Amino acid sequence: MTSTHHHHSDGNRHAHASHAEHDHARLAAVLDLDAELMADYLDDAANLIAESLQRSPARIADLGAGTGTGTEALARHFPQARILAVDGSPDMAALVEQRARDGGFGDRVTSVVADLDDGLPPLGAPDVVWAAMSLHHVADPQRLLREAATALGPDGVVVITEMAGVPRFIPARDDAELGGLQERCQTAAAGAGWEALVDWTDAFDDAGYDVLRSETVHVERSDPSQSVARYARHWFAQFRHRLADTLDPTDLALLDVLTDESDLDTLHRLDDLTLAAGRLLWIARPRTTASTAPSTPESEH
Ligand SMILES: C[S@@+](CC[C@H](N)C(=O)[O-])C[C@H]1O[C@@H](n2cnc3c(N)ncnc32)[C@H](O)[C@@H]1O
Repeated sequence: MTSTHHHHSDGNRHAHASHAEHDHARLAAVLDLDAELMADYLDDAANLIAESLQRSPARIADLGAGTGTGTEALARHFPQARILAVDGSPDMAALVEQRARDGGFGDRVTSVVADLDDGLPPLGAPDVVWAAMSLHHVADPQRLLREAATALGPDGVVVITEMAGVPRFIPARDDAELGGLQERCQTAAAGAGWEALVDWTDAFDDAGYDVLRSETVHVERSDPSQSVARYARHWFAQFRHRLADTLDPTDLALLDVLTDESDLDTLHRLDDLTLAAGRLLWIARPRTTASTAPSTPESEH
């Protein structure tokens, strides 16, 4: 460590850094858990991409790649593809690189740190621009879609995925209280306009795309597991934190109990949960670059 006389501010900086590291580690863990439980959706998405393209993509850009779970699924599904993984966080970029090395496809994956709010970095004319659960994070999604249309290679497609509502956790033992709580959380989350619960259909149209596929991919995990229980605790913590102004005090108190990892009764209560979740997926192609695009009166002027 370089020496400095500003001990006080230095200490603060370390406090901030470790807080950020903690947040980052937590986000990375949740993204990995999410992908572990949603693996089926990634397989389905890859199949839908191959169908829409009618070929295997040679180049893919993964925007907002996170820990690289999508990068990995696409790399495995399309063994010839080269993938550019873009994320604003250097920590995430490092995790993608490590995942690619560990998975034996490091030679096909390049990781780039770039803030998508500053415009797209050079993508190298990809066949597929993939953005999973990341478009709602950027400041101007319309602009990103318009830029992606220009960046795509011939006949390329943009694929966006988002959550189809919040996941539902279904207890095997009768637990009406848990069921009722989740109903109220679902309603409150939808009413609160969570940015992750978003429909991009109109945005694609406005940005000059034809939507080729608009799908809801359902994912069910019908075997209880530690992963499902952890995922449930993550979601209950989200509800507790983000719906604090909407839910009534009884529900908030119940969420406190359900997220208390030191409470053995709670741990037992969550150990029989199964999961029903879903992803929305859009595959779209820019109207102007489609070779079959009919000429319009405006384009003849
Ligand atoms: C919810 S995560 C999704 C990660 C991954 N695509 C997945 O499906 O697991 C969103 C990711 O987008 C990245 N991100 C958010 N805003 C960004 C921006 N403006 N520029 C670049 N990356 C951004 C975050 O760092 C994060 O890794």
